[in-house]
Amino acid sequence: MLATPGAVALVQSPVGNVLVARTGTNAFTALSDVCTHEGCAITGHSGSTFVCLCHGAEFNSSGDVVGGPAPTALRQYTTEFAGDVLTIRP
Ligand code: FES
Repeated sequence: MLATPGAVALVQSPVGNVLVARTGTNAFTALSDVCTHEGCAITGHSGSTFVCLCHGAEFNSSGDVVGGPAPTALRQYTTEFAGDVLTIRP
């Protein structure tokens, strides 16, 4: 999982679920899974596009809206990748 650029994953954590995308060899994005349309949890993806299954909003790996009814981008978290460890901060 997340071994190659373009890969995406839904990561479950004690503070909530996070959508993670590997955007480069050492680059990741981490996004809130709360859809900006009506607040559903985003659980789907098509390739590296995250898809909200409630009404079809689509977000790219930076969290920007690329389709459907969502009005704004997903919240993005800070990521740090060092020593094969990905750290995600609010
Ligand atoms: S709540 Fe996600 S598309 Fe409507």
